[in-house]
Amino acid sequence: MVASDALAMLQETDQFIELNDGELVTLTADQITIENAAGEQLDRAPITVTIDAADAEKGTFPFYMLKEISEQPAVMRRLVSRYVDDAGTPQFDSAMLSALAAADRLYIVAAGTSYHAGLVGQNLFEHLAGVPTEAYLASEFGYHQPLLSAKPMFIFLTQSGETADIRQVLVNVKQAGYPSLTLTNVITSTLAREADYAVELGAGPEIAVASTKAYTAQVAVEALLAKALGQHKALPLAAAFDVAHQLSLAATGQQALIDQQDKLHELATEMFAQTRNAFFIGRGTDYYVSLEAALKLKEISYVQAEGFAAGELKHGTIALIEQDTPVVAFITDPITAARTRSNAEEVEARGAKVLRIASAALAEPGDQLIVDDLDPMLTPLLTIIPGQLLAYFTSLDRGYDVDRPRNLAKSVTVE
Ligand code: G6P
Repeated sequence: MVASDALAMLQETDQFIELNDGELVTLTADQITIENAAGEQLDRAPITVTIDAADAEKGTFPFYMLKEISEQPAVMRRLVSRYVDDAGTPQFDSAMLSALAAADRLYIVAAGTSYHAGLVGQNLFEHLAGVPTEAYLASEFGYHQPLLSAKPMFIFLTQSGETADIRQVLVNVKQAGYPSLTLTNVITSTLAREADYAVELGAGPEIAVASTKAYTAQVAVEALLAKALGQHKALPLAAAFDVAHQLSLAATGQQALIDQQDKLHELATEMFAQTRNAFFIGRGTDYYVSLEAALKLKEISYVQAEGFAAGELKHGTIALIEQDTPVVAFITDPITAARTRSNAEEVEARGAKVLRIASAALAEPGDQLIVDDLDPMLTPLLTIIPGQLLAYFTSLDRGYDVDRPRNLAKSVTVE
């Protein structure tokens, strides 16, 4: 059997033989022959893929997406027990940490949802590991490469590990001799194999096209890695940051939001049942989560949604606000909370229907949804849960196939 992804054949086997670029495979009823471009026969041992086929089942959930949203608290806890030692220090390959520590700038290259997780990662690496970090869209970076620093290191962030836009950047980066690390959910994937280092996201198989638990796993692994790197460099800020505690708070807070599904369904109906467009606003990490929440709504409910930096609305986009235009405002950053609130009031004064999602310490009467308090760098681990569930229920109400939205694919292996 031949497939582009191990998940497609898990019911049949856990033994897989990988093919590389330029190779030719001939399958007969009882034989597999692999040749390279020169016609030489290659001998390649099978690898064992250790994904449990049961993890790829829907169980009692109506859709994979809801199952995967519900798994996020467990993923957070699993990542802590997998990567953090008894002293609270995340453990990663020391050669990889040395390579990261030698870099004067980190370039996170990703696409789609993973890019949004990369934006959140910038702050974590800059703050905890003291290294300038920038997230880039792979499809842009490949052909319009910025002026690189003297000692760059590349982090490829990808759920599938197969995205062609990213692969194309990796090939160039390797040719130029720069070090690279892939953070991926599929450790046997092409991008994991081809980078110098690979770290597993450990979210478990993600089947729904709209990515949910891979996003929160990416943010969590970035936090773990940033802390490990900061400690490797003996930075006091990293030592003081209790990542295991933060991730366990995140797990509890996520569960509390998942338990409010009925309320989120009502809010989704109230906000998005009739609309053709919607806005998500916030500043800093709240802006990054706005981008991801808007993408979720677009992908599965086909509502034209935009994630916007709250302060930028007034410079043009506010012209689109009409009576009952839905605007979701994320308010979790103490530094900018008051300003985002006044941006929410500006759109409300022009007729917008505003849903305020605030963290407990910043909450005010009238806020419709409260999320637990968490380090402001990590609040997307909480605020994206209503983002995901609002999109899920909107898609459900409109009668769409939540797991298989039109025109989209889970792994995009073409540029
Ligand atoms: C596709 C998927 C998106 C995903 C993007 C990047 O477009 O539909 O959900 O975010 O690829 O995928 P990756 O596997 O690289 O994270």
